[in-house]
Amino acid sequence: MQNHNVTISSQPSNSSTFFSLLVLLGVILPWFGAPQFLFQNTPSSLAKWRNYTLPQAASFVAKNGTVIVCTVSHPFLPFLNNWLISITRQKHQDQVLVIAEDYATLYTVNQKWPGHAVLVPPAPDSPTAQNYGSQGFFNLTSRRPRHLLHLLELGYNVMYNDVDMVWLKDPFPYMKGNHDVYFSDDWTAVKPLDHSHDLEKGQPNICSCMIYMRPTSGGKLVMKKWIDELHAETMKTNDQPGFNRALMKTAGQVDLYLLPQAAFPTGGLYFENKTWVEETKGMHAIIHNNYIVGFKEKLKRFHDFGLWLVDDHAKESPLGRL
Ligand SMILES: *[C@@H]1O[C@H](CO)[C@@H](O)[C@H](O)[C@H]1NC(C)=O
Ligand SMILES: *[C@@H]1O[C@H](CO)[C@@H](O)[C@H](O)[C@H]1NC(C)=O
Ligand SMILES: *[C@@H]1O[C@H](CO)[C@@H](O)[C@H](O)[C@H]1NC(C)=O
Ligand SMILES: *[C@@H]1O[C@H](CO)[C@@H](O)[C@H](O)[C@H]1NC(C)=O
Repeated sequence: MQNHNVTISSQPSNSSTFFSLLVLLGVILPWFGAPQFLFQNTPSSLAKWRNYTLPQAASFVAKNGTVIVCTVSHPFLPFLNNWLISITRQKHQDQVLVIAEDYATLYTVNQKWPGHAVLVPPAPDSPTAQNYGSQGFFNLTSRRPRHLLHLLELGYNVMYNDVDMVWLKDPFPYMKGNHDVYFSDDWTAVKPLDHSHDLEKGQPNICSCMIYMRPTSGGKLVMKKWIDELHAETMKTNDQPGFNRALMKTAGQVDLYLLPQAAFPTGGLYFENKTWVEETKGMHAIIHNNYIVGFKEKLKRFHDFGLWLVDDHAKESPLGRL
């Protein structure tokens, strides 16, 4: 994977760099031999997962009515594994549902860890085939909120994470009260420890990388609005601005909760400001490896900060060594 030497250009200030990255990799990877071809003659023991549905998968993994969800394509399996090790350390791995973006990921995960991956067809395996602004393109960019909305409609609490994250603590104790949607700020400016939990006025930059939602009408409304916003801006491959507009437009009707910065810092703060990290030592719950351009760079940064766990701790992962 590292040999693919993929260089990504997108705004480093944006966590959904990751989403753009998924789209770009989908464009580039076929030239290296798309991994799905490995699975052309899929044994029937694995082929059954083709028919596994989101409702079946969610009911299999949910505990206490809660699922932890990510969306992953094949090149990101090492990041998935890293994230999983960190979740296993917090004893929440049983609740993880991997929404596979290609059949290789679906089969790889379910072979090692039956029932924990699902693919919602059609697999978005060729973004290039979609014209900007077309229904197909919209289908691709709006997949994430549509999956999340579906899970809410099935009645689950949903914890969504990008897989370029590492849990240092159990995040659930921070999901206090009965708010509809919980999220974290992606601005890097240091805030006081007792900052407000309201959506900030002016220009919010909420990260679409980590969202916790309850299956309330408010939670569903935000997801529906997000889908509408993405529909309205078909030129983008990055879904974070649409998420922010959805939050601003529903703020009057939905109970929103901004999580504490010290526990859920943006990568632009955690990896860039040693003084702040020292000051807030012991308070960090989830670290997000954003504000960086490039796949190898992301991996190296996790490595440099002691957050790359797959080399030495793969056996802690439910997927083992990949
Ligand atoms: C999947 O479902 C279809 C339609 O119900 C069925 O024809 C097919 O045999 C199933 N495939 C597998 C591998 O179970
Ligand atoms: C489910 O809830 C119970 C009671 O609140 C708690 O003890 C348990 O740890 C929870 N399980 C998970 C997997 O979160
Ligand atoms: C878009 O998604 C809808 C609903 O899943 C589907 O019916 C339609 O065929 C898709 N269109 C394209 C062009 O992918
Ligand atoms: C880094 O963190 C310190 C301590 O919280 C803060 O005073 C300083 O303004 C931060 N530096 C930058 C560049 O944000």
